Amino acid sequence: MKGRILVTGGAGYIGSHTTVELQNAGYEVIIVDNLSNSKVEIIDGIEKITGIRPAFEQVDCVNKAVLTTVFKKYPDIKGIIHFAASKAVGESVHKPLLYYRNNLVSLLNLLELMPEYDVKGIVFSSSCTVYGQPERLPVDETAPIQPALSPYGNTKQINEEFIRDAIHAGASYKSIILRYFNPIGAHPSAEIGELPNGVPQNLVPFLTQTAIGIRKELSVFGNDYNTPDGSCIRDYINVVDLAKAHVVAIERMLENRSDEQLEYFNLGTGKGLSVLQLINSFEQATGVKVPHKIVGRREGDIEKIWANPRRANEVLGWTAKETIEDTLRSAWNWQLKLK
Ligand code: UD1
Repeated sequence: MKGRILVTGGAGYIGSHTTVELQNAGYEVIIVDNLSNSKVEIIDGIEKITGIRPAFEQVDCVNKAVLTTVFKKYPDIKGIIHFAASKAVGESVHKPLLYYRNNLVSLLNLLELMPEYDVKGIVFSSSCTVYGQPERLPVDETAPIQPALSPYGNTKQINEEFIRDAIHAGASYKSIILRYFNPIGAHPSAEIGELPNGVPQNLVPFLTQTAIGIRKELSVFGNDYNTPDGSCIRDYINVVDLAKAHVVAIERMLENRSDEQLEYFNLGTGKGLSVLQLINSFEQATGVKVPHKIVGRREGDIEKIWANPRRANEVLGWTAKETIEDTLRSAWNWQLKLK
């Protein structure tokens, strides 16, 4: 056993896949999740894949008193991977204070508790949204942070600042901030994946629900962008690839492989795909047609962004490996399982 890792939001989409990879690598995982956007059945799915049931505490990281009991119950937590957060961009515009409370107070509580319980490092789940529309593509970690377009995006920026300032002020722990591009797909076993919460806002869950007939038609938000086919471009990264990067990051901190106390990494494939290309890849990979129509642009959408993942490739020794076809097939198999 390599040590105990606290995974907040471990029943969620990226958190559950990361738990599997941590267990496969020999870590003992303690999941803290308030189940606000996840289901306890996902814990069963994790156990089916790895044969190990992670410890699970249904706790809201916003509640410091209750969160403290977790640190008391599990001494020797070596590191934290912090996923627990609200993540719907549109909802954050309508409920900004809810987003600020959930996403900011949770991290504050963890950062305050870490030195008290001698936790060595925290991996933070950030987003390429901090770059806004970058002037130069592909975007690397030195690109300027731009004003956030939503309260959700703002919480990611402020969270990054919390960590930066705490470390600047002499905090004892290390941190790695991972800026994800667009995570998609599911575990190849189809035991875990993204659980839809109402009408999906993200492209791939909406697409798979359309393909299976839950939704009539997928709307493509805009075909008049300055891109080859006019639809927006993103860097879609396989969720299992993404999960594996967290294992490398936690190991790097706990084994002191770097002298830096704070590091930032882009996690993407380095390839941009348009919305229309992604629909086409899905149809090719699965043989299933996706009814779709072009509609107007979605407010707040960025035209094009894809990663320069070189730092992660060279410094972490991590590279996204899965093909887009396999990734989209995994999303489809998960949808078939959910029905
Ligand atoms: C957004 C956030 C990102 C966040 C992620 C997780 C921004 C700029 N991006 O990513 O930070 O981590 O959500 O929730 O805030 N699309 C359609 N039809 C649909 C849905 C989407 O055409 O029904 C298009 C969008 O216009 C976009 C692409 O598909 O071009 C991807 O959209 P989506 O999956 O929502 O992710 P982002 O907006 O890129």
